[in-house]
Amino acid sequence: MAFAPRPAASALVAGVLLLVLMPAAAAAAAAGGVCFDRIFSFGDSLTDTGNFILSVPDDFPDPAKRLPYGQTFFGRPSGRYSDGRNLLDFFAEAFGLPYVPPYLGGGEFLNGANFAVGGATALDYSFFRERGVEPTWTPHSLNEQMQWFKKLLPSIASTESERSDMMSKSLFLLGEVGGNDYNHLIVRGKSLDELHELVPNVIGAIGSAITELINLGAKKFVVPGNFPIGCVPLYLAIFPSEKEGYYNKETECIEWLNEFTELHNRLLQEELEKIRNLHPDVSIIYADYYGATMNIFRAPLQFGFTVPRNSCCGSDAPHNCSLSVMCGNPGSTVCPDPSKYISWDGLHFTEATYKIIIQGVLGSYAFPPLSETCRGGEYKISQLHLCTDNNPTNTVTYDDAMSSFI
Ligand SMILES: *[C@@H]1O[C@H](CO)[C@@H](O)[C@H](O)[C@H]1NC(C)=O
Repeated sequence: MAFAPRPAASALVAGVLLLVLMPAAAAAAAAGGVCFDRIFSFGDSLTDTGNFILSVPDDFPDPAKRLPYGQTFFGRPSGRYSDGRNLLDFFAEAFGLPYVPPYLGGGEFLNGANFAVGGATALDYSFFRERGVEPTWTPHSLNEQMQWFKKLLPSIASTESERSDMMSKSLFLLGEVGGNDYNHLIVRGKSLDELHELVPNVIGAIGSAITELINLGAKKFVVPGNFPIGCVPLYLAIFPSEKEGYYNKETECIEWLNEFTELHNRLLQEELEKIRNLHPDVSIIYADYYGATMNIFRAPLQFGFTVPRNSCCGSDAPHNCSLSVMCGNPGSTVCPDPSKYISWDGLHFTEATYKIIIQGVLGSYAFPPLSETCRGGEYKISQLHLCTDNNPTNTVTYDDAMSSFI
């Protein structure tokens, strides 16, 4: 299999992408600005902007290469696992920065680069292979994404002082990553014990990547936790149960899967706290994707979602989701209005959902708040959206949220 980047074809793709995106990005840049100049992003399909499809041969049958992926925004499949923009795109928009181009598309990357690859794991292939699990989605783990970054670094900043300046003015979005490490075991029906054993290893890999980037001069991090996987149609469909208490009464999500995610998120936050204590001059923001997403699942209608637990794109199976007919495959169907659905394809969210998650992270679903990345400098986000928290007494606009940060 050819996993190497192919410069000619990918440069073309990146060119087309830029043309399409320039107006929005330029408008955003004019409207505001934050105390960092660019984003470097590492992770998986929640933030991939094209790396996976650039990493596989032309005839590789990835559904995300086809419509309806990209139908709502971009108007064509862009290598994102959604009907439009994903979490990284909404971060970029909010910060008034251009969309972050995929590393495998080639280019100069003076305005940042995205190393996230759909299917990527926090741990290397060898880790899974040693445990008798053959990961099949992509070999481009977090570690490999770090190698790409280190390879790119000298071309963006050639001298020592250029490097420290560039690194300190960049935001590092590290994750979400680790979700696929667990997904690999979950879809293979491994036990909860086996899943638990994986957690410290996953957290260790994320912690090492952060420390390595700090040693290279990074000062500003956003590190997201995992979202509530017990609420996604894929898992609702493959793990049904009649057992009393199996589903959460309020959200109808699968308790054991969400509890497992909470464990990962708790250990991740402990690791971040350790790193903060070792490096007090570095800002490390925990982005609470879990909380921001649960807020939606607790009151989907408040956010305009009339169909919270089915995928918009999929099959006529329970929850409109099955592993046999996935979104984008022959015979799959797509709902008339993705903005009414939380889930896009059973595992990934619609862009409507991604947007609300990021709005949440820009507000109260981050610890410490994102303004911490600026420490005395001017923190200003470009797009101020109304954010309705689940608690009716706590309805805030982003203007309000921001003023409390300053
Ligand atoms: C979802 O599944 C039902 C049958 O279970 C089907 O009638 C409906 O068309 C499906 N919706 C989509 C969007 O595929």
